[in-house]
Amino acid sequence: MLFLSCFPEVTLPQPADQKVVVRGLEGVAAAETRISYVDGVNGRLYYQGFNINELAGRTSFAETCHLLWYGKLPNAQEMRRFRSRLVSEMRLPTQVVTLMQLVPPNTHPMAVLRTMVSALAMFDPDAEYNSDDANDRKSVRLLAQVATIIADLHRTRSGKGVLSPDPDLDFAANFLYMFRGTPPDEEERKAFDLTLMLHADHGLNASTFASRVCASTLSDMHSALASAIGTLKGPLHGGANQRVMEMLDDIDNVNEVESYIEGMLNDKQRIMGFGHRVYKVEDPRAHHLRRLSARLCERANVPHLYEISQRIEKVVHERKGIYPNVDFYSATVQHALQIPDDYFTTIFSAARSAGWIAHIREQFADNRLIRPTSKYVGIFERQWRPIEERD
Ligand SMILES: CC(C)(COP(=O)(O)OP(=O)(O)OC[C@H]1O[C@@H](n2cnc3c(N)ncnc32)[C@H](O)[C@@H]1OP(=O)(O)O)[C@@H](O)C(=O)NCCC(=O)NCCS
Repeated sequence: MLFLSCFPEVTLPQPADQKVVVRGLEGVAAAETRISYVDGVNGRLYYQGFNINELAGRTSFAETCHLLWYGKLPNAQEMRRFRSRLVSEMRLPTQVVTLMQLVPPNTHPMAVLRTMVSALAMFDPDAEYNSDDANDRKSVRLLAQVATIIADLHRTRSGKGVLSPDPDLDFAANFLYMFRGTPPDEEERKAFDLTLMLHADHGLNASTFASRVCASTLSDMHSALASAIGTLKGPLHGGANQRVMEMLDDIDNVNEVESYIEGMLNDKQRIMGFGHRVYKVEDPRAHHLRRLSARLCERANVPHLYEISQRIEKVVHERKGIYPNVDFYSATVQHALQIPDDYFTTIFSAARSAGWIAHIREQFADNRLIRPTSKYVGIFERQWRPIEERD
């Protein structure tokens, strides 16, 4: 170890720190929540008490946000109001649009999103206020603006003008319309809406934990959301969906799957979109996304992508006994909806913003600073030496 070889004279660790470390905080309950519950044994996911299977196909993403934030599915009047608040907040301050144009063109969209959410705070009159009212205004604004940042970035980078929301479309349809430039047809609208709904929340996952840690210092909502986006970006978390598409692009046809996966496993590589810290059975979100993927790949004339995905699922399960997670089939769903793969994780962020915001507000409502400890395994009582006497 370089550190020790520089200072060979130091005394080695004293057995002082007896704390027990739970690596990766696996199985540790770090917060109480009413927002969602992940039942890893039975493969179930609940949003505010509703099994997602009960909501899927019947409850829009916007209704789900209302459920996550206010604890109830909206009635018709509440929904009209909530939807119009969301759509009316889908505009960005012009300074943020200008700032986005200055970003180097090869910057990953997740890095742009993280930075722009941070920038939004500088133009938000409520940014530094944590009252319930201010946080409610920011919740709606942030959810809406995250979608617009993603749409505007894509439009600008494709050399096309940015679009204003269409008040006749709901939130999810507007998002896809502003991103692609064409309003989705009914099947696409439903598929995209369901995809967002399925990604809306998921217990105390890494990015949600990051957002709650930030909120627990009584920092502001923009900071907590930026922390979450940076955390989701990693390939062991939300960044996996882009890697799934890269893997599918690498495999020419279904007959190559076995050797490709075998090669990856022999190299001790992780197969992206598989395995889960909590689910020991199939991720319930994968069930819905698989069905969407089959249909949308067919429609988009890329049925081979679904076929290859299915074979990968079979081979990985046979070899490792693990199942696809949310990121596996969401890759082909998004691809078939004409979303470029480097935007996949931003779409995940737009959906998960609903859950992050709910958790940030839950943390504010009953706060205790989240400040765990660590077990010190370093050395003690080192002797200082003048610079000219050091090795
Ligand atoms: C999500 C993830 C980080 C959870 O990891 P974890 O809880 O730390 O699981 P472990 O690392 O303890 O893995 C347990 C076993 O499954 C294997 N495993 C888990 N996920 C794997 C994967 N994606 N590919 C290959 N093997 C995997 C591990 O190698 C280990 O096998 P071993 O006991 O033979 O060594 C992990 O499954 C992973 O890296 N998946 C790929 C990235 C991904 O899809 N992320 C999105 C998550 S929603």
